[in-house]
Amino acid sequence: MLFHYIKETRLYVKEQKKLGKSIGLVPTMGYLHQGHLSLIKKAKAENDVVVVSVFINPIQFGPNDDFEKYPRDLQRDYNLALDAGADLLFNPSLEEMYPEKSRSFVLVQELTDNLCGASRPGHFQGVTTVVSKLFNIIPADRAYFGMKDAQQVAVITQMVKDLNFDIEIVPCPIIREKDGLALSSRNVYLNNKERQSALLLSQSLGKAEELIKQGERTAEIIVDSITSFLEKDPNCNIDYVEIVDFHTLKDLKILKNKVLIALAVKIGKTRLLDNIVMEVE
Ligand code: PAJ
Repeated sequence: MLFHYIKETRLYVKEQKKLGKSIGLVPTMGYLHQGHLSLIKKAKAENDVVVVSVFINPIQFGPNDDFEKYPRDLQRDYNLALDAGADLLFNPSLEEMYPEKSRSFVLVQELTDNLCGASRPGHFQGVTTVVSKLFNIIPADRAYFGMKDAQQVAVITQMVKDLNFDIEIVPCPIIREKDGLALSSRNVYLNNKERQSALLLSQSLGKAEELIKQGERTAEIIVDSITSFLEKDPNCNIDYVEIVDFHTLKDLKILKNKVLIALAVKIGKTRLLDNIVMEVE
């Protein structure tokens, strides 16, 4: 099924709940790939009914971001989502989600100060606001988010805790191409040469992982190693390379416990993310 309106979506979810069915929600901005589909498949394995939302949320894009040219193909998304196990694709229009000027926003503090929050002011407020709206429209039992956007998972988990949303946040592993590139809707922007440069992201994280396995614990040394690896390619324009505590997202000087090594790199005009999570003794 494909719904464009909040009212019919609410009614459907209400009916399914009345029948005793559990609901899994997978929020997306569409142009689905195997990363999104892995979330849908997991949601289907753990719930009776799966709702996938496809909405390109303008308020999480900055003025120089790619909102206008963000890739879209609803028919393809619909077929892929249903094949992967979705029961309903919710695709509201801009007017349906934001019929008038909004005066209410959801802001998670501190966790949004560094990493992508520093280079994309207002981005996470846009994300938490739209995700709250989706949670209110589709009061699911569980919602599925990819670790590709690790900070987004941390911020939404905090929001759910702080605001008592009755929904379980389920983090899902990063899906990669065979050569290591993390899948992203934005990969379609890359030309052949840029696609080659994009491989350096996962490779630099692999190098960092090796260093840590060899016993390195000083964040600066690991960050420097990633940075110099990426800087060898003039196509790579580093936005950030950071090593933070997985739970607090606070910068670490010495690696300890669960750490998140995250980077954002511009390749040509395309900003790509990647990260790894490691348990360090
Ligand atoms: P979007 O970028 O479309 O991603 C939707 C979901 O798919 C997110 O949870 C994201 O982390 C996950 N995802 C993307 N690539 C992945 C990969 N390679 N492996 C595993 N999961 C992956 O993230 C958003 O949309 C928006 O911010 C949204 C949450 C929908 C709010 O507008």
